[in-house]
Amino acid sequence: MTTTKTGLNKETREIIKATVPVLKEHGEKITTRFYQMMFENHPELKNIFNQTNQRKGDQPKALANTVYAAAANIDNLETILPHVKSIAHKHKSLNIKPEHYPIVGKHLLLAIKDVLGDAATDDIIDAWEKAYGVIADIFISVESEMYKEAKNMTGGWADFRNFKVTKKIVESEVITSFYLEPVDGNPLPVYQAGQYITVKAEIKGASYNQLRQYSLSCAPGEGVYRISVKREDAIGDNPAGVVSTFLHDNVHEGSILPISAPSGEFVLDLKDTRPLVLMSGGVGLTPMMSMLETVIKEQPEREVIFIHAARTGKVHAMKDRVNEIAEQNENVTSYIVYGSPEADDKCDKEGYIDAAWLATILPTNNAAFYFCGPKGFMRAAYQNLKQNNVADSDIHFEIFGPAEDIIN
Ligand SMILES: Cc1cc2nc3c(=O)[nH]c(=O)nc-3n(C[C@H](O)[C@H](O)[C@H](O)COP(=O)(O)OP(=O)(O)OC[C@H]3O[C@@H](n4cnc5c(N)ncnc54)[C@H](O)[C@@H]3O)c2cc1C
Ligand code: HEM
Repeated sequence: MTTTKTGLNKETREIIKATVPVLKEHGEKITTRFYQMMFENHPELKNIFNQTNQRKGDQPKALANTVYAAAANIDNLETILPHVKSIAHKHKSLNIKPEHYPIVGKHLLLAIKDVLGDAATDDIIDAWEKAYGVIADIFISVESEMYKEAKNMTGGWADFRNFKVTKKIVESEVITSFYLEPVDGNPLPVYQAGQYITVKAEIKGASYNQLRQYSLSCAPGEGVYRISVKREDAIGDNPAGVVSTFLHDNVHEGSILPISAPSGEFVLDLKDTRPLVLMSGGVGLTPMMSMLETVIKEQPEREVIFIHAARTGKVHAMKDRVNEIAEQNENVTSYIVYGSPEADDKCDKEGYIDAAWLATILPTNNAAFYFCGPKGFMRAAYQNLKQNNVADSDIHFEIFGPAEDIIN
């Protein structure tokens, strides 16, 4: 029997390819059952998985869908490597370990059996067990390289490390910054502008820890990390955000927060010397500030267009610092867009950013474009850039939540 590099024989691969559509068809049921059973048998995993995402149904689909997508490419698994790398950054920031993979695999198979019933023959289950093993091994090996790299960097670490909040600064009515220094007093690794860390929130009285990602909002190499967090208040029937309100209300100067090492591939390319366009909406400002602070230090000659959209001046964070940078650096131009400006708010545009306005302020469409913000902002930003004929390879964005399609 012929085998591929995966070690799976042709028969197994044929079963996998034939059954991917069936599993996809029952996707939501399988995923729901999978998480139910996994959390029943391993409640400790609630310390890792974002329970709000579970309730909202945002993330649950992503894991199983990726397994199916990988399985559909079982003859040519190299094609999924870029996707694996991007997920592996998230996994690394959450401290996902090799020993977690068999737990996920076991419960995915149990859920498949449970939902498909007799249709899930022994051959089918056997084939999926093997295929999952191969896919999991790819993740484990990519992630183990990343952990090694993180640990071997000067000042690097692979798990969670305790940081003390040395400064807490209110940046706007809704955004507050936390300056973080390692309790052990050892050096900090230099990260790349745009990367994020994970905060482990150990909330008194809560049954489980909560992990959330926050982009680093200052330039790397300053001996301190800074995150800037938007307070997610309750709106209508939706409860307030768990970790952001905990950070705003219960974390003060002197508090200790466990933090994972910087991760993420939404990073400023400092080899590119073309104009740089940074666009943000609301708290999507945070990685843009890190990029702005970095580019003025590392590439002072580079032309930078900084566009920030906020609802009003009251929720516009870090305005003074951006103005200061623009005043001190003739290559930096800053634009402010307010959705509903108040009487004394001054801005360059009212309402939303649109393609026609962008065309009037962009020096060229042959530039590097980075953006981050709420989902609606992201979709519009992408469309606006495409209408200005910006190449996909020049468009980079970060989503503050489970990865999803912004492009369609
Ligand atoms: C790579 C990355 C970088 C990020 N960087 C930043 C950053 O720099 N700054 C920042 O502020 N955030 C950032 N985030 C977002 C951050 O990780 C958190 O998601 C955010 O702080 C909200 O977390 P929370 O625990 O407060 O809210 P959660 O409890 O997770 O709730 C999230 C939202 O859902 C609503 N909600 C809760 N329950 C329900 C329900 N049952 N139905 C419907 N809605 C519900 C809440 O009101 C809230 O608005 C980033 C995220 C990622 C992935
Ligand atoms: C081959 C197996 C796996 C695949 C294909 C997979 C896939 C994914 C994908 C696609 C995402 C979303 C990434 C993003 O939004 O940016 C994700 C996130 C995540 N994964 Fe995995 N994953 C696998 C294994 C695991 C394991 C073993 C664990 C730990 C038990 C795990 C825990 C998580 C967590 C906690 C998140 C963050 C989302 C949240 O908390 O809501 N994954 N994974």
